[in-house]
Amino acid sequence: MAYRLAPPCCRSDWDEYHRIRQEVLLESQKYALEHPDEEDEPGHHPLLFWQDDRPIGTIRIDELGDGAAAMRLVAIDPALQGQGHGAALLTEAERFARALGCGRAVVYSTTEAIGYYEAGGFTEDEWADCEIAGVAQMVKALG
Ligand SMILES: CC(C)(COP(=O)(O)OP(=O)(O)OC[C@H]1O[C@@H](n2cnc3c(N)ncnc32)[C@H](O)[C@@H]1OP(=O)(O)O)[C@@H](O)C(=O)NCCC(=O)NCCS
Repeated sequence: MAYRLAPPCCRSDWDEYHRIRQEVLLESQKYALEHPDEEDEPGHHPLLFWQDDRPIGTIRIDELGDGAAAMRLVAIDPALQGQGHGAALLTEAERFARALGCGRAVVYSTTEAIGYYEAGGFTEDEWADCEIAGVAQMVKALG
C-alpha cells in the first residue's frame, strides 16, 4: 500500500479533488474558513492524496514566504476516515513542504481537529494573534 501526494493534473483529478472536499463539507460542516482554489497561483499547491490508484484526500499547501508552509483544506474522504490515512497525509505533506525548502508547517485548525494535529506533532502557537473564533493556529518544525 503506497501513499503519494500529487498536483491534480487532468479534469478527472480535479473532479476528485472537488468531490472529496464537497463530501467532507457536507459530512462534517467543519470548514469555517473559505479558501478559493488558486489553481495557477504561484506558491499555492492544491494536492490530491492517493492510496495506490485511489484518490482518498486533499490538501492545499501554501508557501508563506518566511520559510513556513501553511497546510489548508486538509480532508480525507468521509468513508475512509479513522483508518490512519489522515496521519499519512500529514507525513506526505511535510515531505512536500520540506522539498519546497520550508522549515516550518503551520495549520489553522478547527477546535474539533486539534487532536488530529497534536497526534501529528503540531503544537498550539502561543505567539499567534489568530483572531478568528474557533480556530487554533498550530505549528511544527520540519526536521
Ligand atoms: C481530520 C482528518 C483529516 C483526519 O483524518 P483521519 O484519516 O480520520 O485520521 P487518522 O485516522 O489518520 O488519525 C490520525 C490520528 O489523529 C487522531 N484524530 C483524528 N481525528 C481526530 C479528531 N477529530 N480529534 C482528535 N484526534 C483525532 C487519531 O486518533 C489518530 O491518533 P493516533 O495516531 O494517536 O492514533 C479527517 O477526519 C477529516 O477529513 N475531517 C474533516 C475535515 C477536517 O476536519 N479537516 C481539518 C480541518 S482544520
